[in-house]
Amino acid sequence: MRSADWYAGRDRNAYIHRAWMRRGAPDSAFEGRPQIAIANTASDLTPCNAHMDELARSVANGVWEAGGVPLNLPVVSLGETQVRPTAMLWRNMAAMAAEEMFRANPIDGLVLLGGCDKTIPSLLMAAASVDLPAVVLPGGPMLTGTFQGRVLNSATDVWRMSEDVRAGTMPEHLFLESESCLVRSRGHCNAMGTASTMALVAEALGMTLPGTAGLPAPDSRLLRASHETGRLAVALVEADRRPSTVMTEASFRNAILALAAIGGSTNAVVHLLAIAGRLGVPLTLDDFDRIGSGVPLVVDLQPAGRFLMDDLHRAGGLLAALREVIDLLDPAATTVTGRPLVEYVEPAIAWDREVIRQRVEPLQPDAGIAVLRGNLAPDGAIIKPAAATPSLLRHRGRAVVFDSIEDFHARFDDPDLDVDAGSVLVLRGCGPKGYPGMPEVSNLPLPTTLLERGVRDMVRICDGRMSGTAYGTVVLHVAPEAAAGGPLARVENDDWIELDVPARRLTLDVPADVLAARMPSAAAAAGYANPARGWERLYIDHVLQADTGADLDFLVGSSGSHVARESH
Ligand code: FES
Repeated sequence: MRSADWYAGRDRNAYIHRAWMRRGAPDSAFEGRPQIAIANTASDLTPCNAHMDELARSVANGVWEAGGVPLNLPVVSLGETQVRPTAMLWRNMAAMAAEEMFRANPIDGLVLLGGCDKTIPSLLMAAASVDLPAVVLPGGPMLTGTFQGRVLNSATDVWRMSEDVRAGTMPEHLFLESESCLVRSRGHCNAMGTASTMALVAEALGMTLPGTAGLPAPDSRLLRASHETGRLAVALVEADRRPSTVMTEASFRNAILALAAIGGSTNAVVHLLAIAGRLGVPLTLDDFDRIGSGVPLVVDLQPAGRFLMDDLHRAGGLLAALREVIDLLDPAATTVTGRPLVEYVEPAIAWDREVIRQRVEPLQPDAGIAVLRGNLAPDGAIIKPAAATPSLLRHRGRAVVFDSIEDFHARFDDPDLDVDAGSVLVLRGCGPKGYPGMPEVSNLPLPTTLLERGVRDMVRICDGRMSGTAYGTVVLHVAPEAAAGGPLARVENDDWIELDVPARRLTLDVPADVLAARMPSAAAAAGYANPARGWERLYIDHVLQADTGADLDFLVGSSGSHVARESH
């Protein structure tokens, strides 16, 4: 047991380690029992995770019952709606801090309590790099809220209603009244956004107790699952089953397949690439296209469809959804229980065929993520064709360029803005380095003049991300970003841009010599972040581009769990 390096023996050092941890603990707590850290992202400033102390108590009961010692370990928590300039800036910091604390402490195994968007990815990155036995416990989605008899989606309905106010079809006082109805209960956002996606993807990776992801946060069965997860963590240590043995290439194939079948968030791309990078799994951007293309969307969940996460749970959850594509799953991929994922998928039953569609009647026949390349995105960009307007998937239009999101906000409502329905909106300065942190701003609202003319979608191109619940013909994650010297920095108004999703091409119709002779936009460069100190400085100097997961260069890979030196 790793913790024996701290607690075993009769010398002064072991005495000190035990003495400070006793505080009523029995002698047996230090005699070979697995020390299980409950990495807890509960925080009043992460409202989606605020209930996790209760889950942690159930985990702790399970750990005690199975013969381990539970240890609550508060870790960096990120509230997606609260943290500025974007929670993504802090994902790598949260992962680094968690990894170091997992390694520095007398810990044999981990339970990872995450929910809000970045919390599960950061914990998985940390667990992968320290490679201690670990299991994820997702905090679960909130229950469905309603306003004036109508179901509210906690993400997209905010945008929908604010657009209705803008268009004059919803009085402002009703918009404000809906505010207290939006978040009905504890838990994370209830559409198929990033939090829901990453919980389900963690299960598809094999890192949760199967059947746990998607259990609504207030459901008492989540407490039972928490208890069982605590028991499982002890068993994981005894079996020496580590993240590197669970999250294999086969597991990532299943995760990408699941991502397509559930119509999950594009944000999963950067998170899965970053997690794979920690493990040395050779996952590439192109794998998302290769594995996910042609996979049918089998759940009818918002934003693509009608229902929300508690409906998915009622209908049978992820396992029942994966039952529809079981032949595409890699049977070699195992889970934290030691048994293959397909063993749990095989007996799963879909109880509501409106929520979980039969494969022969999918919500969409092809739900994968397309990877685009060309002289505008030499290292790749992505688009979710299922979220796009089919007629725009092949499109040629004139660029209307914005140097920053502030530039966009200042001008997009200007009646004199030279834009038409065929234009291509280009937004730069929103990549990992430029913003910094790669915010979710890529799904730009349409200029008011066009909205008034009935235009509902346009081609948009950006080096940032978009919310997992966003929709539209949006090309994202353009790499390299403008601030890293990507060609996006050299696009000018009225350049012609050609998007050809079936051919996987994104082309700036400017001759190579002309493009090379152009100077990068000085106005864009003036807006790039250039902090003198602190995390932002470290981040900008070391962050990698989106096509490899936007991790920090010196955090890629694993250092294991060994610490050579004593603290005194
Ligand atoms: Fe936390 Fe949406 S704000 S999941």
